[in-house]
Amino acid sequence: MDKSAVLADWISPSTNPVTSIEHFAPSNIALCKYWGKRNKQLNLPMNASLSVSLGHLGTHTRIVPIDYCADEVWLNGEQLLPSAPFCQRVSSFLDLFRQPGSCYFRVTTRNSIPTAAGLASSASGFAALSKAVNDSFELNLTDEQLSVIARLGSGSACRSIFNGFVEWQMGQRADGLDSHGVSVEQCWPGLCVGLVKVDASAKSIDSRSGMQRTVDTAHLYQSWPIQAAHDLVKLKQAIAEQDFTLLGQTAEHNALSMHATMIASWPPLVYWQPESLATMQRIWKLRQEGLNCYFTMDAGPNLKLLFLNDELEALMRYFPEMEVIQPFGNGR
Ligand code: DP6
Repeated sequence: MDKSAVLADWISPSTNPVTSIEHFAPSNIALCKYWGKRNKQLNLPMNASLSVSLGHLGTHTRIVPIDYCADEVWLNGEQLLPSAPFCQRVSSFLDLFRQPGSCYFRVTTRNSIPTAAGLASSASGFAALSKAVNDSFELNLTDEQLSVIARLGSGSACRSIFNGFVEWQMGQRADGLDSHGVSVEQCWPGLCVGLVKVDASAKSIDSRSGMQRTVDTAHLYQSWPIQAAHDLVKLKQAIAEQDFTLLGQTAEHNALSMHATMIASWPPLVYWQPESLATMQRIWKLRQEGLNCYFTMDAGPNLKLLFLNDELEALMRYFPEMEVIQPFGNGR
């Protein structure tokens, strides 16, 4: 089943985008990770996941219909070559909404995520683009429908349609219409996410190829969906009861278990740099000394620390360069 067939009941490809429009979507950090697909074309996951959106850090995307015979894609002030992978992904995403050859866009994407922070921008980018297309073609889709559409651009983008805590329900249907983000209606003022940059250079193997290699070659991967399902339950409990230790422990264990499946792939996938491990060891030592701080990591060498506002001052002494986000405000 291809992407257009899946959307046939919601969208009839148009020849007529109505307006220029700009939208914002937040970046998100998964506390229970999405790793592995049951359907590559539709980005349908092997497991449900749960994230927290990063407030004002994310992507602003503007789309303007242009009188030209190709799309123009600008990223952080620079025009991308038509052959650039991101440009091609954006154009084929726009193809879901237009009659072939009927209209083209200038897509201007600006990330408010600090470029050195090592945060993926494809999630917020495809979420912001989905919202912009919804308005430009006057589709009037709901957030859950937009989440399905954003997922077709990049899996984790389905969580960036929403603020706060978001669960990506994996769904059961072959067409994936039940696989989308759902807002978890709880706030946690004082919860902090600290971005610790180890290496800002582009990763050697992107998440898309990395997760495929893991599914194809790591026997250890078979236990991953089971662990993820248990972790999801614990995280929802931690959020409902505002139990930070349960949240931190579960998120850190989940991230390290995902990395274990990566390392067990062949050829092995090791996203860590020596500095990543040194930072983990520093966190473990700080914990032994009584600081309640945990970390999570995605498909790259940088760490995201999880802690409560009370520990902020102490942690800034150990990580003076850390960028801190409080997705629900500082609670004071
Ligand atoms: C490790 O959403 O970037 O960040 O669906 O192929 O676009 P595609 O992958 P992507 O993968 C994100 C993987 C992760 C974990 C997560 O965000 O849940």
